[in-house]
Amino acid sequence: MATLTEPVEKPAHVPDEAVFDFDYHFDPGLLANPHERMRELLDSAPKVFWTPRNGGTWIAIGFNEVFDALRQPEIFSSSIIPPEQIEELLKLMPDDMPRIPMLKPITIDPPEHTAIRSPLQKAFSPRAAMNQLEEIQTLTNKLIDAVIDQGHCEFISAIAEPLPVTVFLQMMGLPTDRLAEFRDLVHEILMKDLGPFDGPLALRKVADALQENIAAREHDRRDDILSALWDLEIEGQPMTMDVMEDYAVLLFIAGLDTVINAMGFAVRHLAENPELQASLRADPSQVPDAVEEMLRRYSFVVPLRRIASNVELGGFELKEGDRLMLHLAGADLDERKFDRPDEFDISRDLKSHVAFGGGPHRCVGMHLARIELHTLYRQLLARLPMWRLDPDHPPRYHSGNVLAVDSLNIRWD
Ligand code: HEM
Repeated sequence: MATLTEPVEKPAHVPDEAVFDFDYHFDPGLLANPHERMRELLDSAPKVFWTPRNGGTWIAIGFNEVFDALRQPEIFSSSIIPPEQIEELLKLMPDDMPRIPMLKPITIDPPEHTAIRSPLQKAFSPRAAMNQLEEIQTLTNKLIDAVIDQGHCEFISAIAEPLPVTVFLQMMGLPTDRLAEFRDLVHEILMKDLGPFDGPLALRKVADALQENIAAREHDRRDDILSALWDLEIEGQPMTMDVMEDYAVLLFIAGLDTVINAMGFAVRHLAENPELQASLRADPSQVPDAVEEMLRRYSFVVPLRRIASNVELGGFELKEGDRLMLHLAGADLDERKFDRPDEFDISRDLKSHVAFGGGPHRCVGMHLARIELHTLYRQLLARLPMWRLDPDHPPRYHSGNVLAVDSLNIRWD
């Protein structure tokens, strides 16, 4: 069993009623069944609480509280280390320290955020995402071909990982023969809990892996995202190598881990609910609604915010400098917002979930993510016989900035 992080002392401004002992990395319930545990928390913990674990942090799990925080970036800042502290830290770094990519725009606030985000919005428009459809269909089919006759697979490594990684390589204009290298990088960054030094260096590794291709596109444009990004200007200034590197590394992190987990939780739910599989097979026109409801039922991203000025949230006073995690899985299972939140129900209002966040940082890749998910559902349901969980190998999870499925063994006859 994982060891819990050591508790820290409660700061004076945190009242006793706000304290709830919960380790968002290693809570045993969360690692056994993440969303079941989130429902338990919603029944037993305050909608916003302070845990002495994980270095001491506030966690919001209620829908209204999460929603309010997402929409007020001037108070709930995404710049986790304030800009003046970054300057100080940079001065302490040795001169030969390689440049660490900044995850922009996800770690900056408006108004600077808007200028950095809008080029990405163009590159990931609904039309740009639709243009990938055929490639995504071909790839999904190929991955299913590779496992269909064996009657079982470990779904994460066989399909959920290689699918978005390959789509990413193709969209960016990176050679797909580097799939294995990029999958290893995904593992290094996402499957391990990297510390404050290993984390930035792992980001540097991703940038190094991409650098040659980014540079090659500067003077040799093709029909890919790297070329499209080089063509853009930010506030009238031409694109620079540093900004290109920042974009590419963020897309790598934001666009792979997320899709992998959305696929993992959905395929597990379908494995456990043969009647839902049967109903979607009988009427595939329900697939888009099923994708949306699955995103709500199994939201999994945990965005982080820094409190930029004292504020009340969930009945407690949060103080400037405090850290706040927004548990989107909790928000989307909150019965104050969603009736019978545990039930998978495509007749509910499907638009109001926060699986893709909300406010200025709302996911840029959601159109692409939806297309990848629709394609996967449709093809699995059309081609694989009824699948179920493998009782000998139960799913494994980890938790941190996302609730994640590490392995998911499924079988079919
Ligand atoms: C099911 C899949 C996905 C989910 C659930 C998801 C979820 C999210 C969430 C919750 C945020 C907001 C984070 C915050 O407020 O701090 C976000 C931001 C972002 N996502 Fe996604 N995402 C998914 C797929 C993708 C894909 C495929 C891409 C691109 C290839 C992508 C690119 C981004 C980027 C660039 C941002 C930062 C936007 C900004 O800061 O303005 N995401 N995503």
